[in-house]
Amino acid sequence: MKTSTYIRILLLALFIIGISLLHYLTPLHLHYLHDIFQRLYYLPIILAAIWFGLIGGLACSLTVSVVYAPHILFQWGGHLTVELEKYLEIVLYNVVGGVTGLLVQRERERSVELQKTADGLELSFKKLQAQSEQIIAIEANLRRAEKLSTLGEMAAVLAHEIRNPLGSIRGTAEILRDDYRPGDPKYEFIEIQIKETERLNRVVEDFLRMARPLPAEMSRCRVQDELETVVMLVANDAGKRQISLHLEPAVPEVIVKGDGEKLRQAFLNIVINALQATASGGSLDILTSICRVEGGGTNCEIRFSDNGCGIDTASQAKIFEPFYTTKSDGTGLGLAISRKIIEGHGGTLQIESTAGKGTTVVITLPVLQAEENP
Ligand SMILES: Nc1ncnc2c1ncn2[C@@H]1O[C@H](COP(=O)(O)OP(=O)(O)O)[C@@H](O)[C@H]1O
Ligand SMILES: [Mg+2]
Repeated sequence: MKTSTYIRILLLALFIIGISLLHYLTPLHLHYLHDIFQRLYYLPIILAAIWFGLIGGLACSLTVSVVYAPHILFQWGGHLTVELEKYLEIVLYNVVGGVTGLLVQRERERSVELQKTADGLELSFKKLQAQSEQIIAIEANLRRAEKLSTLGEMAAVLAHEIRNPLGSIRGTAEILRDDYRPGDPKYEFIEIQIKETERLNRVVEDFLRMARPLPAEMSRCRVQDELETVVMLVANDAGKRQISLHLEPAVPEVIVKGDGEKLRQAFLNIVINALQATASGGSLDILTSICRVEGGGTNCEIRFSDNGCGIDTASQAKIFEPFYTTKSDGTGLGLAISRKIIEGHGGTLQIESTAGKGTTVVITLPVLQAEENP
């Protein structure tokens, strides 16, 4: 029990003892005082009912009855007919104690229930608020996505429209160039014009390639064959840069379902990046292996490891963003396109890199079939 409860019980006891002493010690001929004392008993009874409910009210009224009864019986004589009013008062004590206690208890229960309802309402309100916030956030996202996709479509149309005039500019520039000899300042200017047009054309082509959806028609592709083609394409460039390019034979031979041309394009982007990042004397190794996927299925993993300049952590977050490039003549679309192609084949493209040490691009692709190589 709490200290406040003890204090309340003590207070009630003192009340009852005090009033009873007044009864027992006041001479009987001062009957008007006894009438007042008799009513004073209601105070502790009502207080007990308010503080402790039905049981408290009844306990107090019974105590008062027990304490008060001997006073009627022995001091007033206790004749039922003469002291009827005093006996009735005792009955009334108990009625008041019981009824007040009951009412207080009911009121208390109701307020507890009301509190519960209020708590429930508050909870629902909070949930509703969270939900509406979520809806607003989703809607904002949707609107942004919608804007981006329209923007993308518009950009694709624009890129397409830019390509044709670019062709004419380049053609006419080439004709003009023939009028001058190499070494003539105008010849150099026209050279710059042609080079810049080429660059613009490259950006537009890369962009269009990214915007164009992957063809639905996929066929069986031998990964090693595509890699060999890519190595053959860049072998000359690698030789000029004095970079040793090494393609490990795949064991077992891996076959995936995909678009060979697109895959080759992704591999080529990655290999060219590696060559551009590596100084002469460096190396680039390409290795394919098989790994099992949790929950069934097999993946192949293709690792392109160079020991070039590497990528610092801050830039690693940005390299997949379209148009992010650190090269003066770069388009910044290579990795974005490659990732899109690989993901379109159900695979992943990740980069592991340490600045100053080198970079490994890791591609995984779901395998259709893996044949042991004799
Ligand atoms: N193997 C690599 N080593 C170091 N940096 C790389 C490598 N591959 C990509 N990067 C960085 O990522 C950037 C984005 O590459 P990419 O999307 O192919 O565009 P681009 O080659 O036109 O710059 C590059 O500019 C380069 O800074
Ligand atoms: Mg690139």
